[in-house]
Formats: sequence, C-alpha cells, structure tokens
Amino acid sequence: PVIQKIEEAGFVAYFVGGSVRDTILKKPISDVDIATSAFPEEIKAIFPRTVDVGIEHGTVMVLWQKEEYEITTFRTESTYQDFRRPDEVTFVRSLEEDLKRRDFTVNALAMSRDGEIIDYFDGLVDLNKGIIKAVGSATERFHEDALRMMRGVRFVSQLDFTLEAKTEAAIMEHHALLEKIAVERVQVEFIKLLLGKGRSQATIKLIETELYQYCPGLRKHGEGLYRYADLSGELPDSLTAWTLLVYFIQLDNQSIDAFMREWKCSKKAIQEVEVAKRALDFRLTTGWSKEQLYHTGLEIAVAVEKMHALLTGESDLAALETHYKNLPIHNKKQLKVTGNELIATLNRQPGIWLGELLVEIEREVLIGRLSNQTEAILSWAK
Ligand code: CTP
Repeated sequence: PVIQKIEEAGFVAYFVGGSVRDTILKKPISDVDIATSAFPEEIKAIFPRTVDVGIEHGTVMVLWQKEEYEITTFRTESTYQDFRRPDEVTFVRSLEEDLKRRDFTVNALAMSRDGEIIDYFDGLVDLNKGIIKAVGSATERFHEDALRMMRGVRFVSQLDFTLEAKTEAAIMEHHALLEKIAVERVQVEFIKLLLGKGRSQATIKLIETELYQYCPGLRKHGEGLYRYADLSGELPDSLTAWTLLVYFIQLDNQSIDAFMREWKCSKKAIQEVEVAKRALDFRLTTGWSKEQLYHTGLEIAVAVEKMHALLTGESDLAALETHYKNLPIHNKKQLKVTGNELIATLNRQPGIWLGELLVEIEREVLIGRLSNQTEAILSWAK
C-alpha cells in the first residue's frame, strides 16, 4: 500500500536491498527499504506521518498502518570523503542508476509492488549460486565505502555464501581503506559474522583477506581465529560469540576488558562476557564427579572410540554411534578400545593427529557433552 500511494502521486517506487534478498531466500525480513523517484519533500507531502532520519541522504521514514518504511530517493553518490560515507548525494530519477551504486549483486535487486523482480546485475543468479559479488567494479565499490569489505565477509557468514574471486582479490588489494572506518561500524559487521551460519568459512576469509587486521585486538591472534573457525560450529546456547572468541584467542580474564573496550563494547556487554568466560573456565578445568561421569559414560565411550577411529583412520563414526546407542550405558567392558590402547596408538602417531584429537575433545567439552580435558577422559577410560 505504501508503494501504491507513491505511484498514485505519479512516481515510481520499489522494494530494494536486504528485504528483497531475504524474501527470495525465504528468510525473515528485518527492515523494509523502498527506493523511489520522488524527492524527500514529495514523499513528505504524500504521507501524514514521517520522520526525517537522513534527509540529506534522501531518506525519510514513513509510518503507515503501524509499520515503518525507510523511503529513499534514487541516488548516486558522486563524491566520497575519507572513504567513509557519501559526502554528497546526487538524486537521480532512475532505478538502474540507484541499483548500480549498491554493494553486492544480491543486494542490488528490486521488487515492484506486485512482486516482479528487477535484476540488472544477475543478482538472482548469484543468489541461487550462493555468491557474494560486487556490483560492477569491486575496487570502485570499496572506494565508495570501505566498510563494504567487512560487509562482504559478513554476508558470507550470514547467508552461508562464498566470496567471488574478483571481489576477494579487491579486498586483498584495498583492505587498508578500512583504517579510516569507525570501529563501531566494523563491530556491527563483525558480530554478525561471528554469529552467522557460515561463520567458519567467513572467519577464514577474514584471515585470508587480512581484514582481521582492522578488527581491534585480533592482529596478534590469527591463530585464535582459526580455532574459532574450527570449533565454534556448534555454538552452545549458553555462550555468546564474544565469549567463545575471547576463549579461543586465549585472553586471560584481565585482558578481556581491554580487548572489548578496544571494540567499543558497552560496559554491560563486557561484564556479561567476563562472567560467561569465568563459567566456561570453570567447566573446562573442574573434573566431574564419578556420578556425573557415569551419566555421560555413553558420550565418553563414543568419544574415545571416535578418537581411536580418528587415529587409526577407521572412521565409520555413524556405525560407532549406533553401536553405543544400543548398549546399556556405562559398561567399560563393552568399550572396543581401552584408554591404554588409545595412548599406545597416540604414541605411535605423529603429532598432527594429536592436534586433531584435541580439537575433537575440545569441541565435545565446549558443547557440554564431555567434562574435563584429555587426562580425565583417558584416565577414566583405562
Ligand atoms: N548498501 C550498500 N552499501 C553499504 C550499505 C548498504 O550498497 N555500505 C545498500 C545495499 O543494497 C543494502 C541496502 O543498502 O542491501 C540496505 O543496507 P543495510 O540495511 O545496511 O543492509 P541489508 O542488506 O538490508 O542487510 P541487513 O539489514 O539484513 O543487515
């Protein structure tokens, strides 16, 4: 109905940006953005309730039937100051001009009132293939707004997409432009990246493209980020992404405050992470009682078998899980492999396997299925 009102006044208007992308992906939609040929004053004349949220950029918020719509005049951004935000916007009357200056093809789709998709840059193809690709020249898009480089990897994570090669190459070449970007804006993208479904590959992209250098405190912690990529896959509900991050980059409790302040996090957020990290440390260092071990006996048995399978290369893990599911819990004799055998196997293997084993154990501990570190499990399993 909002678009219809604008059209009745003699202008054109389309849904644009994330809401079109998410509609096609059948994902929940956050904000509805509308782009129009009408100028802000013309929009304000059509609707009784409007709020100037960024009129110098051509954006008016319209309140209509209890919903909010961000309505922006078609524009191209001609000059940019410090690669931060458009310095001067030029309003244009064509949709194509407007879409051309958007960041990625999947974000440059428009949809008319009756659901017709307007796609000048093969956004639908990229949406189907799961690709994040800059519209036109990636170099130009990143010079217009350097934050787009972070947005790119953030979408890789959120949508579980891959980064198109030229777009990735442009990030590698131009990442230094991010130096000028306010850390608060980077933080918004970074948190979304940490929480997205594709966080593992996005975190690796963050390292490979060197974008992580513009994330406060992470310059020295590339290795910790790899651990995050490896292990944060099954995020335990009780732990936030920040908590896991500070754990994986091995910050001690004293350094968390400084680290998160650099990210300009709120005091409350810092305190929450500090508390959660302490609880996590406790879980990782405190041995469980025999009783607790008894109840997790099945998981431990499976874990020991998994380790052995990993070490020996016999990795029919699904069969093992079924095997143990059919056993009465906690019968040591029914373990196929004893702790001693495991240690003997470990001793015969080169170090790389040990690393993999530890990763496996750490994951089990983090998701709360196992208690303590290796020693506890091994000594119990013997
Ligand atoms: N956009 C852009 N360059 C930016 C920021 C935004 O080209 N640096 C354009 C994109 O077309 C984007 C739209 O503006 O889709 C809306 O931006 P925003 O609300 O920040 O992102 P969404 O894509 O809507 O993603 P979400 O709201 O889901 O985070």
